[in-house]
Amino acid sequence: MDFLANIDLHIATWAIGIILFFVAVIMAKGSKGQKITHMILRLFYVFIILTGVALFIDGMKLDMGMQYGFKFLGGILVIGMMEMILTRMKKQKPTTMFWVLLFVFLFITMFLGFFILPMGTNL
Ligand code: HEM
Repeated sequence: MDFLANIDLHIATWAIGIILFFVAVIMAKGSKGQKITHMILRLFYVFIILTGVALFIDGMKLDMGMQYGFKFLGGILVIGMMEMILTRMKKQKPTTMFWVLLFVFLFITMFLGFFILPMGTNL
């Protein structure tokens, strides 16, 4: 499963995931299109986590366990917030707090990935 530990593949999976999330958000609530988009998004959660875990295992040799741990947690929380927003929208419950948390966790995760952790792009 070496091919999964690939930064470009990881970037592709979360970029598509984020796009699918916004498409699902703007689609009519409860529509067939939204349900299908949400289903495909859930499949992409699996791809994001698989590539993330594979990179995480690779990163363990670099002696930056804490930073990698936070990246892992941040990525999972981003996925968690996307899922919370979509399911709460369906139940017509307020989502403001989860939007704030989504952007906070997204910022932390991107910052760690692009600026702190050494593999892939280093801005
Ligand atoms: C939607 C959620 C996620 C976003 C937006 C995201 C974002 C990023 C970004 C921007 C990078 C750096 C790419 C580069 O350096 O070119 C990265 C790398 C990485 N991500 Fe994620 N990620 C997400 C989910 C996850 C998850 C769930 C995990 C773990 C299970 C994870 C683990 C990693 C690891 C280990 C790296 C390599 C870090 C390095 O050494 O550069 N990511 N991710």
